[in-house]
Amino acid sequence: MAELVGVYAASHGPLIVRNWQNLKPADRESVSNAFSELGRRVNAARPDVLIVISPDHWINFFINNLPSICVGVGEVNEGPNEPWMKDFPHREIPGHPRLAEHILNTALDHDFDPSVSHRLILDHGFCIPLWKAGIDPLPAIVPVILNDIEPPFPTVKRCYAWGGMLAAAIASFPENLRVAVMGTGGLSHSIGEPTMGRIEEDFDRDCLGLFESGKERPLIDFLTQRLPTIGNGASEIRNWIAAHGAAGGSGFELINYKAIPEIYVGFGVAAWNINR
Ligand SMILES: [Fe+2]
Repeated sequence: MAELVGVYAASHGPLIVRNWQNLKPADRESVSNAFSELGRRVNAARPDVLIVISPDHWINFFINNLPSICVGVGEVNEGPNEPWMKDFPHREIPGHPRLAEHILNTALDHDFDPSVSHRLILDHGFCIPLWKAGIDPLPAIVPVILNDIEPPFPTVKRCYAWGGMLAAAIASFPENLRVAVMGTGGLSHSIGEPTMGRIEEDFDRDCLGLFESGKERPLIDFLTQRLPTIGNGASEIRNWIAAHGAAGGSGFELINYKAIPEIYVGFGVAAWNINR
């Protein structure tokens, strides 16, 4: 049977790549160390497959066709096509169709109705954490796109339940496979709005405290109430909530948090305590 061997989350702000040289040296070191620790943990967990939960930043989908959830079931995923991601070393990334199809069928059994794609482009949301964490060898990737870019969004509660479904799918997959889950995005940030660039550090720290405590209901209530009141990019914390659900709502260990104006995001990296 398959086994869940790790659950992680990491920010993926594009300026981590695009504005790297303009970060303060201390911030560069902080981001580098956090990603290195994430990579160390993922590499130590030796996943055969990594389920990565990210939004799609208008690369595969647009407002004429915007699924709430899409599972990538293809043999191969394409690497990022953003020009500034050209140095990411993978142009094609193997998928895992058997696990992906099992996730799809388990989702249907759990009353979800995800869309599917047989060939997704994995944009920076997927690839910045994989790249900067130095995950090597890169496991097969089952991509899950959650729409946290443009309303209507799936509810926070629904994203948590989606993560629980992922854990059930992993536990019932009949092959001997090591599987990890990573949610990417967030924390607070604002893109293309009058508040662009604002980081809500108090919100981020309250949010991280609730994740660390593992108290599911207060966390879901907090995010449900607060996400609509702050910058639009914070909506990506839905991917952290899905990871939280996959970890069974256990608390997580914060590897690093820092509000970094030069990359527009409250930068965070975390790993869940799935064995406690
Ligand atoms: Fe994003």
